[in-house]
Amino acid sequence: MKSEVGASQYRQQSLIQDARKEKEGSGLIAPESLALTSGDPDEGSSFLNIIFTISNPSTSPLPTNLKVLEKHGALIYHIETRPAVSSRKNEEDLECFVKCSIHSSSINTLMSALKRVASDVKIVRDKILPSFPRKVQDLDMCWNLIVKFEPNFDQDHPGYGDQEYKKRRAYFAELAYKYRDGDDLPIVEYTAEETATWNQVYKSLSSLYPNYACKQYLEAFQQLEKYCGFTENAIPQLQNVSNFLKERTGFKLRPTAGLLCARDFLACLAFRVFPSTQYLRHPSAAMHSPEPDCCHELLGHIPMLADKEFAQFSQDIGLASLGASDEDIEKLSTLYWFTIEFGLCQENGSIKVYGAGLLSSYGELVYALSNKPELRPFDPEVTAAQPYADNSYQPIYFVSESFEDSKAKLRRYALKMKKPFCLRYNPFTCSIEVLDSFQKVRTALSQIKDELQILCSALDKMSLS
Ligand SMILES: [Fe+2]
Repeated sequence: MKSEVGASQYRQQSLIQDARKEKEGSGLIAPESLALTSGDPDEGSSFLNIIFTISNPSTSPLPTNLKVLEKHGALIYHIETRPAVSSRKNEEDLECFVKCSIHSSSINTLMSALKRVASDVKIVRDKILPSFPRKVQDLDMCWNLIVKFEPNFDQDHPGYGDQEYKKRRAYFAELAYKYRDGDDLPIVEYTAEETATWNQVYKSLSSLYPNYACKQYLEAFQQLEKYCGFTENAIPQLQNVSNFLKERTGFKLRPTAGLLCARDFLACLAFRVFPSTQYLRHPSAAMHSPEPDCCHELLGHIPMLADKEFAQFSQDIGLASLGASDEDIEKLSTLYWFTIEFGLCQENGSIKVYGAGLLSSYGELVYALSNKPELRPFDPEVTAAQPYADNSYQPIYFVSESFEDSKAKLRRYALKMKKPFCLRYNPFTCSIEVLDSFQKVRTALSQIKDELQILCSALDKMSLS
């Protein structure tokens, strides 16, 4: 744990270490898992990989076997054949691999029928991909928490022995657990003690922002003060903040009971949803918290989420995480750590801060722009493999040329990740489309063509006027 004073120095071994913990299977509460698959072509249908051997193809040719598939309603996507290596009878025997989609109710009869015309008929399972939410409503099931930093479990937590504080935290946890997508965000009546904590943090940090924060942050912070009740005297309500973000970048908030595991947290970003805690840190340690609290969310994250380029960058990390392997989740968590939490950026020849972990930490904010740490250019390949400091200030920070540049680099990085499909977010239905068939790609392309036509026509009109 960091020992120096930080306004919101929550212990963010965070997503990176949490991603490792996920792999190890510890430190998580797993209330239920999502039973979502990675490529169901139609309602009730599923992909099936079948291998079978055709003996004497001259008398029972391949089309005969394919007819059987067709008769049972299977839609064939891919066929491969090769000499049957296992055949002991005839060197002309063929081994066939077929990938098809078929209604689940027809699988058994298809297999029986195939066994009548071929031998060694087997279903081969694809390598199982991690499941992921497809619709924004699925995020209701993404609430696996890392609980080891909470006051009930962490003996170093300033609220560990405070029963009243734990009772209050249980109240906030209940609000988050009851929340479902589409509900109004809970309105909280904060106590005088909580407001005093907020006041202390707000005053100390906002005095630093003009010299340290990037221009996107400063612009949004001004707007938040003007239109969204950001003031040292009252803790903003998440519903107002969510409305503010929705109007600017389409991001919305949902309450979380604590620190989400990496996979669930990143999945929320894919839908432009930001999980936000609603409780305050313990009053005995206003300038330090071992876990995220609403001071960190509201002062660190929210202003940047109002910037269009930054919002797209955040969503892109989220989209890259869907269906990713545990190893890739760890790398994406590291990228998240060195950008969204601890990122620096160039601005008119000087270096400014945009990372929420810094913008909510008085001590590390000053340190990051001193000449003590090493600064390196943001490069996803390098950044994703960079070890991080979890018990002291970062010895290395990464500097983005611009959010546009970082976004382009991240997209190139994500394209190289080993996933058997491409994903696209549909903002009209708030859902993820898996682009795993020509038809789906054609539909997406025709939507883009329509939009391009509108833009071309707008350009034509402007050039005529
Ligand atoms: Fe954070």
